[in-house]
Amino acid sequence: MKILVTGGSGFLGKHLCRALVAARHIVTNIDKKPCTLQGVQTVVGDVMDEMLVDQTMPGHDAVFHLASYIEAGESVEQPRKYTENNILGTLVVLESMRKHEVKKFLFSSSAAIYGEPLRTPIQENDRTLPINPYGMTKLAMEGLVSSYAYAFGFTGVALRYFNLYGPEEDHEPETHAIPRFARQIMHSDEVTVWGDGSNKRDYVYVEDVVRAHLLALSLPQGYHYMNLSGKNATSVLEIIQILEKLIGKPAKVTHFDARPGDPSELFADASKAKKVLGWEPQVELEEGLHKTIQWIMKA
Ligand SMILES: NC(=O)c1ccc[n+]([C@@H]2O[C@H](COP(=O)([O-])OP(=O)(O)OC[C@H]3O[C@@H](n4cnc5c(N)ncnc54)[C@H](O)[C@@H]3O)[C@@H](O)[C@H]2O)c1
Repeated sequence: MKILVTGGSGFLGKHLCRALVAARHIVTNIDKKPCTLQGVQTVVGDVMDEMLVDQTMPGHDAVFHLASYIEAGESVEQPRKYTENNILGTLVVLESMRKHEVKKFLFSSSAAIYGEPLRTPIQENDRTLPINPYGMTKLAMEGLVSSYAYAFGFTGVALRYFNLYGPEEDHEPETHAIPRFARQIMHSDEVTVWGDGSNKRDYVYVEDVVRAHLLALSLPQGYHYMNLSGKNATSVLEIIQILEKLIGKPAKVTHFDARPGDPSELFADASKAKKVLGWEPQVELEEGLHKTIQWIMKA
């Protein structure tokens, strides 16, 4: 297939583009950031740029839309920036698809659409009530995509990832726990933990998530939405302990007050992805962390 990826220069995007090329798809990437990926044509630009998206779209069979601003904290400071980029960016891509009769749209949704869950493990039809503008944009994107699936006969797929981790995660600033803790331990810096560290979260390895994307390419017309999550919930302190073991250095942990509204457990039921895609996470946490550490050490 001829596949257009947006946000392909980012953490997940690079892994996905490589996997698509390996599966013999022809891949074009639109991203604001340049990126050299073997076998991928990268168009450096903004998905908000209608002309650029319109020039790039013709002839593609499917779009993986990963381009988004991703920092929940920053979205609270700058809701307009997130609303415009994430929601209008999605609209530009969908409109261009409609114009050029490209009808398969798969995109990065997020656990953030659920906000504070009423129960765990979270199932797809549980309450969605975002607690920050980032989560709101992801829920709005889902609404846009479902409306295009029903109104215009698209195949729309929302993959709701929990905490992704793996090699090549290099955000600036890095707010995600695993790469932040790993670098803090390596540099003997303080490891900053909110609350007592007993909070449990759901971590899913990047290559597992990529595999789900490839499987989702064959979903039929209609709107599909599913959680992509790890095998178990793991506490922050457990993550730190595994990192200490793999890095071979003790962590200097400093605790701050727990953040109000921070749920004690946040993890998902991924049985829908198993039923619909035949997908299950395969990479054990320790193995995934080992690969992540190896990459950080080399970078
Ligand atoms: N990393 C996670 O834990 C996680 C969890 C849930 C959902 N997601 C979603 O997965 C997707 C990928 O996440 P990631 O961690 O790889 O993020 P990332 O920041 O590494 O990659 C996103 C890419 O999108 C690009 N981008 C953003 N806005 C753009 C625009 N207007 N035009 C062109 N390019 C633009 C950025 O330059 C970046 O390369 C995002 O949509 C994110 O919201 C990530």
